[in-house]
Amino acid sequence: MRTTEQIAAARTIRQAESGLSWGLVPTMGYLHKGHLALVRRARAENKRVAVTIYVNPTQFSPNEDLDTYPRDQERDLQLLAAEGVDLVFMPGDETMYPAGFQTYITVEKLSRLLEGSARPTHFRGVATIVTKLFNILRPTRAYFGQKDAQQTVVVRRLIQDLNLDVELVICPTVREADGLALSSRNARLSPAAREQAPILYHALQAAEVALDTGKREGNVLRQVMLDRLKTAPLARPDYVSVAHPDTLAELERVEDQALLSMAVFFGAVRLIDNLLVTASKTD
Ligand code: PAJ
Repeated sequence: MRTTEQIAAARTIRQAESGLSWGLVPTMGYLHKGHLALVRRARAENKRVAVTIYVNPTQFSPNEDLDTYPRDQERDLQLLAAEGVDLVFMPGDETMYPAGFQTYITVEKLSRLLEGSARPTHFRGVATIVTKLFNILRPTRAYFGQKDAQQTVVVRRLIQDLNLDVELVICPTVREADGLALSSRNARLSPAAREQAPILYHALQAAEVALDTGKREGNVLRQVMLDRLKTAPLARPDYVSVAHPDTLAELERVEDQALLSMAVFFGAVRLIDNLLVTASKTD
């Protein structure tokens, strides 16, 4: 496994094997089984696998957890070596955003909805860094997790709108045995909050069951999720959503597919989760 902090070195390694398929897994490090599932899929589908580890400052707002975002480079590199990764690119801020940097990518409407309403510059930061990483590493395929559903929708739009030559592969959300979606932020939950945190998944499942029994109104499904969240005393919902899976517009009624999603605070820790659901054709 080769590792580098330099753009030129990463490009050289990639270009030396330009005829082979490359899978790219962009991450912010502090790797868990969710990240590793992406790496495994990339390993299975490509001749070469590149992973990036970079805590991208432009996707954090000033009041967010950039400084306290967990990091453990040594452990990350051990895990990636064990997965047979070929290249790890882990640049510094001065490499990705040198003095004078001023060009950003904005996926306009999609970036303002859901996560974007609480985090107005978040997806500008994501779209910009993802475009930069694609340009540096020129992957054949890029792997993203369904856990961050809006991120996958934004990146899909970005690839389409800017004619980027990369195939987007979305991998299922990896969960703990009790249903909590794996996230590096889970480590910051208090023991009591950790116990209650599976409520996000349970609320999403309750809405899916309601849809299966013919309740198709968006408002009814949103209320099902809110009612379920109320049963966890430490949970403070930020939003719950029943949206179109591509436009992310809130649905009055689910006709076909819907993206159920939510953000919930436990103290200062903000968790997100989602479920893609389909209304039955028969009722
Ligand atoms: P990060 O939060 O480190 O996540 C890296 C990738 O792992 C993302 O595609 C994310 O959706 C996926 N992932 C995280 N938890 C997962 C889980 N429980 N199951 C499946 N996949 C999971 O997302 C980012 O970093 C950044 O925004 C990034 C794309 C790297 C740009 O900076």
